[in-house]
Order: sequence, then C-alpha cells, then structure tokens
Amino acid sequence: MNIYPIFDKMLTRNDKESLLGQRGMMIWFTGLSGSGKSTIAIALERELQQRGLLCRILDGDNIRSGINNNLGFSPEDRVENIRRIAEVGRLFVDTGIITLAAFISPTNDLRRMAARIIGEDDFMEVYVSTPLEECERRDVKGLYAKARRGEIKEFTGISAPFEVPEHPALTLDTSKLSPEESVRLLVDMIEQRQGKHNF
Ligand code: ADX
Repeated sequence: MNIYPIFDKMLTRNDKESLLGQRGMMIWFTGLSGSGKSTIAIALERELQQRGLLCRILDGDNIRSGINNNLGFSPEDRVENIRRIAEVGRLFVDTGIITLAAFISPTNDLRRMAARIIGEDDFMEVYVSTPLEECERRDVKGLYAKARRGEIKEFTGISAPFEVPEHPALTLDTSKLSPEESVRLLVDMIEQRQGKHNF
C-alpha cells in the first residue's frame, strides 16, 4: 500500500523533459578556489539559454550564503555542503533542468558521493584544472594571501588537500583557454548528451 497516494499523481521527470524539450543533467565543476568554475558556469548558462535550454547555476553565492550558511570548511562540513548541494541538484535534474554546480569539492570521495546522489548517468564531472600558481596570482578574493599568512585555516591547495579527479568528462585549464573556448567544449559535450534536436 502506498501511504502517500498523492505521489501516484505526481508528474514524472519525463513529463517535465517533454514540456521543456530537453534532458535534465548535472554539470559538476570541480577545481581550486579562483580556478574559474563560476565564471565558466555563468558563460555556459548564457550560451545554453540562447539556445533555448533552461539551466540553473548552484554556486557559493547562492548556496553557502543560504541553505548552507551554517557550514564551514572542516572536512565534515565539506561533506555536508556537498551532500546538500547534490540533493538539491538532484531535484533540479529531476525537473529536466541542466544544472551547473560550481564547488571546489576537493576529494574523490566527495565527488563520488555527489554522483551517487544525483545518479551516475546524469552526472558529468568537469575538472577546471587551472594551476594553483595561477589561482594564487589572480587571488580574486584575497583569500590565498590570507591563507599564506595563516589567517585562514584548512584553505584548499595551501593547507587542505585537493585531489585531481580520476576520470573527468572534460578538463578545462582557464590559464590556457578563453571563456569562449571553454564554453564551446562544454556545449559540444552537452550536445552529445542532449541529442542534436535541441541544438
Ligand atoms: S567546498 O570545499 O566545500 O566544495 P565551496 O566551493 O563550497 O568549497 O566554497 C569554496 C569558497 O569558499 C572558496 O572559493 C573561497 O571563496 C571560500 N573559502 C573560505 N574558506 C575556505 C577554505 N578554508 N578553503 C577553501 N575555500 C574557502
């Protein structure tokens, strides 16, 4: 017996995807702070929107300031950060939306957990491989300088680990590629997954 009979009547992912004329999927950007994850996600979102595809970006600005504003950067909090992001991301993917997540997600375990929650088939890992020296040179938020001075503990790449992804679907080094070049590579990858009719 189904104790939630309303669920029988809930429209399915297929219904949503038919309505939108697209397939839901998660593009999971991983990389150091300042590597360019959010910048690429924002450029990609604009390109996909122009092509008539509905996207949703999840990044530090809308997640760590809201749903995850009680979390810091201890290993335990990073697990909970990514767990919640993956659960929220799954709801978007299940609504047929092309979801772009931009978080450091520094370990293979964290990224595996995210893939498991979202579903391996819907999860595409993109490694933004911009070298530490370049991220530190940019130091957009001034955090690397603070980390070097010991004012921020457990800073990824300085005093906390970053594990290079083992089998990313795509690797983008923003010290070598322009945003336009990165977006082109991403659109090619997404196009293959979507089926040509949307492009
Ligand atoms: S994650 O490791 O839990 O995935 P997340 O992507 O949400 O990290 O947040 C990273 C951002 O938080 C960085 O870009 C930086 O602006 C800020 N930050 C503050 N403290 C730290 C820290 N100790 N390590 C890494 N990033 C930090």
